[in-house]
Amino acid sequence: MKVEQLFTGCLAEMAYYIESNGEAAIVDPLRETEPYLRMAEADGAKIKYIFLTHFHADFVSGQYDLAQKTGAKIIFGPNATAEYDIYNGTDGEEFPLGDGKITLLHTPGHTMESSSYLITNEEGNSPYVLTGDCLFIGDVGRPDLAVKSGTITEKDLAGFLFESLRNKIMTLPDDIIVYPNHGAGSACGKNMSSETFDTLGNQKKTNYALRADMTKEEFIEEVTSGLKPPPPYFPNNVRMNKSINTSIDTILHKGTTPLDPVTFKELSEKKDILVIDTRSKEAYAEEGTVPGAWYIGVDGNFAPWVGAIVPDINQKIIFISDDELRVNEIVTRFSRVGYDNTLGYLNGGIKDWLAHGFGVDKIGSVSANKFVDLLAEGAIEKPVDVRKESEYLSEHVIGVENFPLDFIHTNFAEIDTSKEYFLHCKTGYRSLIAASIFMANGVEKVTDVRGGFEDIIETKAPISDFVCPTTML
Ligand SMILES: [Fe+2]
Repeated sequence: MKVEQLFTGCLAEMAYYIESNGEAAIVDPLRETEPYLRMAEADGAKIKYIFLTHFHADFVSGQYDLAQKTGAKIIFGPNATAEYDIYNGTDGEEFPLGDGKITLLHTPGHTMESSSYLITNEEGNSPYVLTGDCLFIGDVGRPDLAVKSGTITEKDLAGFLFESLRNKIMTLPDDIIVYPNHGAGSACGKNMSSETFDTLGNQKKTNYALRADMTKEEFIEEVTSGLKPPPPYFPNNVRMNKSINTSIDTILHKGTTPLDPVTFKELSEKKDILVIDTRSKEAYAEEGTVPGAWYIGVDGNFAPWVGAIVPDINQKIIFISDDELRVNEIVTRFSRVGYDNTLGYLNGGIKDWLAHGFGVDKIGSVSANKFVDLLAEGAIEKPVDVRKESEYLSEHVIGVENFPLDFIHTNFAEIDTSKEYFLHCKTGYRSLIAASIFMANGVEKVTDVRGGFEDIIETKAPISDFVCPTTML
């Protein structure tokens, strides 16, 4: 039996491809269908099942489109309801696949329908368990996303999670491999490892949530404390995952339309259209961009940042790329978080835009050394650190204020558009996103600190000591 983990870095997501004797199953597919169809084709296999561990909140999964194309059955655990046809498996139900089988284990907690899948191979051994967002490497799924006011609280869900882990997962053999749905970087947990699999025995030794002498009360307390508010696009993605959405083929067809500079300019000037510049940091900073464009580089955590900062999931988007071969990928990555309304890209890129005589918006750019010198001279009016509050509190440059990118729209009223801002983050990705939004919202003088905090700490900048949030009360 073939079991392949398919890791997508941008979303820190793991889908799975399982095949035995001409029959295949996909677990937690992303929005696009082509990779799974190609894998099955290469094995001469028919996709028989699409298993979902739960209704995902952090991406739009592709079960409906994939089922339409393959005739595969969509399997969820108990309690799941959707606008399309699904099969609700029951706890312990077995699904034959080729010469092996997949057994559903109902493991509620992260959500009520959450299920894990035990893989049994042709020899009758069960080397893998796919735990979805029940058990991660180093963490467990957060229990606050599926709270329904008046009926179920996050503490109720945490209690279910405790029972699921103790009664369904921890009773499996210690040498079984745990294959979760997410790794470090995902907002579905709070402290995930960057490892993508581990043995259950090792997790029992190292994962705080599996501690042998932990009481249910202690577990509930630990998993519900320190949770940050989920990204704003999460409820939209849950809703879309229960619905029939525009097909990925239609989205790709529309989104990859080449738009000549004149048409692109006309569209970019419409109030209801947002331009997103997806190029490299260097290209954006050095060449400038279409006036009003927001920067979200494709070579970063692109989809989660789109979800976090583009407020309307139905936003009409046109985009700039520096590689026409990646246009398909970019439209796909927008749609992975439900941004399905891409209308096309700037044909010929910024080069053709400039050749038409059209102007660009350009931010300033300084090295970390220059920034620190200017700061010491008192020559910087508004130095701003756009990292998360937790990063800022752990270490920051003295005299620099915190203005986290995550809350840029909520807090924008604090920005004085007549002042000059110098922005930095950790590496120079988030600061460019913030700088572009500052500029698009009327701040005329915005300068990015190249290399961010990682470069700044190599200089003589005055760095704060760690400030424990509780001592600030
Ligand atoms: Fe999840």
